[in-house]
Amino acid sequence: MNAITKRQEMLKVFDTRQVFNELMAALSMALDMDARGKLYHAWRVALVAGLTAELMLPDKVNDVFYAGLLHDIGAMGLDDHIVHQMISGEPLTDPIILEHSDRGAAIVKELPVLAEAALYILEHHEHWDGTGTPAGRKGPDLTVGGQIVAVADQLDILLRLYPRDEGKKALEIIKKRSGTSLMPEVVEAFLAAVAETPYYQKVQNYNALPSLMEEALNKLPPISCVHPQPFKATVRVFAKIIDAKHKYTAGHSHRVAAYGVKLAKEIGYGEDQLEELEIAGLLHDFGKISVPNRILDKAGPLDEDEFAVIRAHPGRTAELLNMIEGLKHLAWIAAGHHERYDGRGYPLKLAGEEIPLGARILCIADAFDAMTSNRSYQRNRSFEEAGEVIKKYAGSQFDPELAKAAEVLWKQ
Ligand SMILES: [Fe+2]
Ligand SMILES: [Fe+2]
Ligand SMILES: [Fe+2]
Ligand SMILES: [Fe+2]
Repeated sequence: MNAITKRQEMLKVFDTRQVFNELMAALSMALDMDARGKLYHAWRVALVAGLTAELMLPDKVNDVFYAGLLHDIGAMGLDDHIVHQMISGEPLTDPIILEHSDRGAAIVKELPVLAEAALYILEHHEHWDGTGTPAGRKGPDLTVGGQIVAVADQLDILLRLYPRDEGKKALEIIKKRSGTSLMPEVVEAFLAAVAETPYYQKVQNYNALPSLMEEALNKLPPISCVHPQPFKATVRVFAKIIDAKHKYTAGHSHRVAAYGVKLAKEIGYGEDQLEELEIAGLLHDFGKISVPNRILDKAGPLDEDEFAVIRAHPGRTAELLNMIEGLKHLAWIAAGHHERYDGRGYPLKLAGEEIPLGARILCIADAFDAMTSNRSYQRNRSFEEAGEVIKKYAGSQFDPELAKAAEVLWKQ
C-alpha cells in the first residue's frame, strides 16, 4: 500500500462517528475498573437511561446516554469506587462524593458537544421532592434528562443490593420512589421502556453488557468528529481527565506528548506519525484512572500488591485503546512506555526493537517528565540533571540511540 492510500485509510478510520462514541465508552469503562475488575456501573446506567430517553426524550437520547456513561466521573480519585460506597449503607460524608455532581459537570462541560449531558450529570442526585444534592432543586425545576439518569443510577445500585430476585425488589423500591425522590413521568417511562420488557432481565446479566453496549453504540446518531479536529480537542480533554485523577500528575500527559513529539521530530518522524504519537502520548496513562489514589499518593514504599496494581496500568491502557477501532493501532505505542530496552520493564518484558519505536520514545518522555515535575515521592530535578539520568540509563532502561537524540529535550 502506498503512502497516500495509507493516509486516506487513516482519515477514514478517524472520520467515523464510532471514534467519539467508543472513546466515551472506554473512558467510562476506565472509570469503572477497580482492583477487583470491571464494575459496569456506568455502562448499565447509560443503557437503561438511553432506552428510557428513547421513549420520553427522543431528541436527547445522545445527551442522556453520554450523561449516563460519565455521570460519576467527578467521583474519580476515591479510595474505593463510588458504587461500593453507595451500597455500603454508611452515611456519605466524603467531600469527593458530596461534590461529585458539580465536579463531574465541570469536567464534562469542557467538551462543548456534551454541554447538555453536563447539565444532567449535575442533577443526577437531585430529588423530585427537593431532598437531593447538590442544589436541592425540585419538581419542574429539574431536567427530565437528569431524572432519567437518576432512575437508571438508582436502579443499578438497587440491583447490586438485591442481586438474586431477578430485579423484583429493585423495581418495587423504584416504584415507591415515584413522586418522592423521582419524577413520576420518568418512572413511568422507565417501566414502559425497560422494566416491563425482556430487556430488564438482559441488563441484569453482567456478561451480556458488552454486547448490549456495542449495540447501543452502533445505534447512536453520529457525532461530528473529523480528524484532526475536534478529535484532537477531544483527546486533549481526555488527557486532562486522566491527569485530573491525581494532583501530582496535572499536565503530565500533555507534557509527555509534547516531549515525545519533540524527540520524534528530531529523529525524522513525518507529520502523520507525529500526530499519532501525540495521541498515543496523550493517552499513555489511560489505564491509570483505575489505580486508587491511596496507592498513587503513598509516600512510603509500596507493598507487593500495591506494586502489582501500579504495574497493571499500561496493560489497561492497551485494553482500553483496543476497544476503540480507530485507535487500536496505537495501543502498544501508548502502553509500552514502561517497557525497558534491556527487557526488564513491564507489563510484557519486551526488549530492544521488540518495543515499538513510538513506545521507546514515550518511555524517555515519560521518565523525563516524572523527573522534572513535582511528585510526592521524589524531589524534582532540573532539565540538565534529568538529562544526565537519561544518558546514564541509555542501553539499560532507554534505547541508546534515542537517549542520544533526546538531548533536544534539555539542551536549548
Ligand atoms: Fe453519582
Ligand atoms: Fe452512579
Ligand atoms: Fe505510566
Ligand atoms: Fe506517565
